[in-house]
Amino acid sequence: MNIDVLLQYEPEINKKDIKAINDYLHSGGFITEFRKTDLFEKRISEFIKCDETIILPNGTLTLFSILKALGIKKNSKVIVPNYTMAATAFSVVETGAEIIFCDIEWPSLCLSIDALEEITDTNKNIDAIMFMNANGRYPSYKIDQLVKLCTLKNIYLIEDSAQALGSYYPDGRHMGTAGIAGSISFSMPKIITTGQGGAVISNNQHLIEEIRRYKNFGRKNSGGLDIHETIGLNMKFTDLQAILGISQLERIKQTIQTKKNNFKKLKQLTKNKYLQVLENDIDFTTPWFYEVVTKYRSKLIDWLEKHLIKSRIMYPELNKQKAFKNHAQYKNSFPISQRISSEGLWLPSHPKLTKKDIERIAKVLNEFDPRII
Ligand SMILES: Cc1ncc(COP(=O)(O)O)c(C=O)c1O
Repeated sequence: MNIDVLLQYEPEINKKDIKAINDYLHSGGFITEFRKTDLFEKRISEFIKCDETIILPNGTLTLFSILKALGIKKNSKVIVPNYTMAATAFSVVETGAEIIFCDIEWPSLCLSIDALEEITDTNKNIDAIMFMNANGRYPSYKIDQLVKLCTLKNIYLIEDSAQALGSYYPDGRHMGTAGIAGSISFSMPKIITTGQGGAVISNNQHLIEEIRRYKNFGRKNSGGLDIHETIGLNMKFTDLQAILGISQLERIKQTIQTKKNNFKKLKQLTKNKYLQVLENDIDFTTPWFYEVVTKYRSKLIDWLEKHLIKSRIMYPELNKQKAFKNHAQYKNSFPISQRISSEGLWLPSHPKLTKKDIERIAKVLNEFDPRII
C-alpha cells in the first residue's frame, strides 16, 4: 500500500480561489495595490471588528511599521517574549531600540505577567511590550490586566497576533485589538494565506495615517502624485494577492471549524505517557499549529519521519540564538521558553488534513516508545 507523506503544512487553494485570480487577470486589473487591496482591508476590519486595517507585504513589516509610527527608536526599550518567531524581535532591532527578553508562562506560552511586572517595576523606561498570542491562545490572566499595567506605566501594548486570525480573548474581542495596534500574518502556513502578507489592525487614526504614508514613499495620496510629506518606503501590496485573501476570507468560518475539529479529534485520540498534545480552548482559539511536547523529541521526530509524518521543532529560545550573541541577556536563563524550545514539536496542522489523517497521526503518536526506537 502506498502511504502519503503528511506535510507539516501546505496551503489550501481551491477552485474558487483559482477562478477568482483568473477572473481578475482577465478583467484588466492593475495587479499592483489598488481597489482589491482596499476591499481586502475592509473585509479584514469587518471580520476582526476593528476600525482600520492596513495590508502590508508581510507580518514583519507590519510590526516594524507600528513601532516606527509610535516613535520607537534608538534608546527606546521594548519587551519581547523569549519564545516567539524571531520577526517579533527583529522588527524591534531594526528600529534601533533595545530589546528586553521576557519569559513566557506555561501552558499558554504567552508572556508571563509576573515577569512583566518584575521587569517594568525595576526598569522604569520601558516604551513598548510586544505581546504574542502563541498559537492563537490567550494568557492565563485577563488581557485587561496587561492593558492596565501598560496604561499605568505609560507603555505601548502591541499585539503580535500573526498566528491568531480567528482567535478571541474570552471577553469576545478579537486578538490584536486590546492594545494600540495588532499585527496579523498571511504567510503560507497561516489561517489564510496570500503567499506573503500582513495586516496592521488598529482603532488609532493617527497611527493608521502615519503607516499609510510611510508605506507609500511618504506620500499622502496615491495615484502618481509625487508630493512627499515625510520619509517613506514602498511597502505596498498587490491586488493579485488581495484576490486570494478575499477569496479565502469568504470560507474562513469553514477553515476555522476544520482546524478546531481536527485539533479536538487529535487531542481526544492521543494517549501516550511519553508525550503530551498541548491544550487549546477551542471556544476562543483557532489552533494554528498542533503542538506536542516530549522529553524525547529527537526520537519522536525520527519515529514520525519513519511513518512519513513531517514535523517542525518549535521556536528555539530567542536569547540563545547566534543573532543575539552580543546581547546582554544571551546567557540568561528563561526556564519556560527553554523547556518549549527543547521539547516542543509542531505536527501536521494544515486544513487539508482529513479525519483519517488525524487518526493516522494519533495512532503513530500512541505507538511511540522512546525505549525501542
Ligand atoms: C509570531 C509571529 N510574528 C511574526 C511573524 C512574521 O510574519 P511574516 O512571515 O508574515 O513576516 C510570524 C510568522 O510566522 C509569527 O509567527
